[in-house]
Amino acid sequence: MSADLLAAADDAAQKAYAPYSNFFVGAVARARDGRLFSGVNVENAAYPLGICAEKCCIGSAATGGLKPGDLEEIAITASPCGGCRQWLAEWGIDRVTYRRENGEVVTVTPADLLPDSFAL
Ligand code: THU
Repeated sequence: MSADLLAAADDAAQKAYAPYSNFFVGAVARARDGRLFSGVNVENAAYPLGICAEKCCIGSAATGGLKPGDLEEIAITASPCGGCRQWLAEWGIDRVTYRRENGEVVTVTPADLLPDSFAL
């Protein structure tokens, strides 16, 4: 259930490495086979090199052998950035739950987040 997944993402966010922004983000994805994968944002003194929690999470799923289409849902503690929306689209995740800046929690599809996403 997406509320449980968001709670797990909140737990994960505590492990974020975000000494520059102090903005801690967590993401947890559930695969169709039930496995969970988590990610956090990992910043770097060379700012553009930092990575978002969603990319870290999806990277973990890829490392576990998963491919696009294998993830059923993902929960993110913050609204996904533009680049992460492209990643969410590529991975064809059915449902994306995230917490808006005003605290509202919404569940949408990658297409809601990024219509006409680029694909090869
Ligand atoms: N961040 C994420 O982890 N995911 C997003 O989709 C939005 C932004 C991170 C990147 C950076 O470490 C911090 O939040 C502030 O932008």
